[in-house]
Amino acid sequence: MAFATYLSQLFSPASSLAGSNTTLIGGLALFDRFFRFLDLPVDVPEPLLSAPDPGPTPSSPVAVRFDHVSFSYRPDEEVLHDVDFTAQGGELTALVGPSGAGKTTLLSLAARFYDPSAGQVLLGGTPLPAFQEEPLRRVTSMVTQDLFLFHASLDDNIRYGRPNASDQEVMAAAEAAQLADLLRQLPEGLQTVVGERGYRLSGGEKQRVAIARAILKDPRVLLLDEATSSLDSHAERLIQDALARLFHGRTVIAIAHRLSTILAADQIVVVENGSVVERGRHLGLLAHPGLYARLYHEQFDSPPAAEVRYARDL
Ligand SMILES: Nc1ncnc2c1ncn2[C@@H]1O[C@H](COP(=O)(O)OP(=O)(O)OP(=O)(O)O)[C@@H](O)[C@H]1O
Ligand SMILES: [Mg+2]
Repeated sequence: MAFATYLSQLFSPASSLAGSNTTLIGGLALFDRFFRFLDLPVDVPEPLLSAPDPGPTPSSPVAVRFDHVSFSYRPDEEVLHDVDFTAQGGELTALVGPSGAGKTTLLSLAARFYDPSAGQVLLGGTPLPAFQEEPLRRVTSMVTQDLFLFHASLDDNIRYGRPNASDQEVMAAAEAAQLADLLRQLPEGLQTVVGERGYRLSGGEKQRVAIARAILKDPRVLLLDEATSSLDSHAERLIQDALARLFHGRTVIAIAHRLSTILAADQIVVVENGSVVERGRHLGLLAHPGLYARLYHEQFDSPPAAEVRYARDL
C-alpha cells in the first residue's frame, strides 16, 4: 500500500519536471522574438531635447494642416496623393469616403504614427517631426472604432487617459460621457471590473468609455474614427450627447459615419482613392452631383428617426 501510494505521488512531480524543459525552450524562443521586436528601429525619429513643446492643454485650439501630403505603406504603392487641407483650430472636420480611400491613414499621419513620404503635417504651423514625442502624444488623442478595455476596473480604464487625475475628475469625465446611469446600475460603480473576464460592456457603453477616457485626457486635437455599428435610438442619443461635449472647444478630425456628425461639421473633406475630391459644407456639397451626394443618398436616405431628430436640434 505504502509503496503504491508513494509511487503515485512521485509520478506527478517527475512528469512536470520532464515538461518544464519544453516550457523553458518555448519561453526562450518567445523571449528571442520579444527582444527582436523591442530592438526594431523607430521609423519616426525623435528630435533633440530642445524641441518645442506644443503647450499644455487646453490653452487655445490649434490647426492641423496637411501640406501636400503623399504617403505609402509599401514603396511601390502610394496610398495618399498630394492631400492638402487644413482642419482649423476649434472646428470639426469630417472625413467621408468609400472604404479603402485612405481616411484611417490620414488620422494615423495626424497622430504621427507614420511620417509622410512627401509634404508635411503641421500642428499650429509647426511640422510634427519638430515636436518631442511625449508632449505630442499628450495634446492629441485618438478614439478608434474598437476600444481596447483592460481587465481592470472601469475607473482604471478611464484613468488610462490621464493617470494622475483625481477621483472627482474621473467621475466628472464619466458623467460627461453619459455613463452616470450605467454606473448606478453596476454593483460596484466605477470599481466594477470590466474586460475579457469581467463585466461585459455593450458596444454603446464601450464607446462612451472611450469618450470618457478622451474627455479626461483633455486633448487639444481629437482624432476620431467613429464606430460603424448601428445602435438603438436611445444608445445613439447618449453617444451623440457625449460626443458633443467631447468636441467642444477642440480641433476635431472625425471619420464620420453618423449623420449628426456630418451635419455638424464645419468642413467635410471627401476622400477617394487617396485624394481629396470634394470639400465644403453639407448643403453646398449636396447641391451638385458628386461623390458626396452619391454617398450621402446611399447611406442616409432612410436614416434612423433618432438621428434626424437630433440633427434638426443642432
Ligand atoms: N498597415 C498597412 N499596410 C499596408 N497597407 C495598408 C495598411 N493600412 C491600410 N493600408 C492600405 O491603404 C489604403 C487605405 O486604407 P485606409 O485604412 O486608410 O482606408 P479607409 O478609408 O480608412 O477605409 P475604411 O473606411 O474601410 O476604414 C487601403 O488600400 C489599404 O489596403
Ligand atoms: Mg478606416
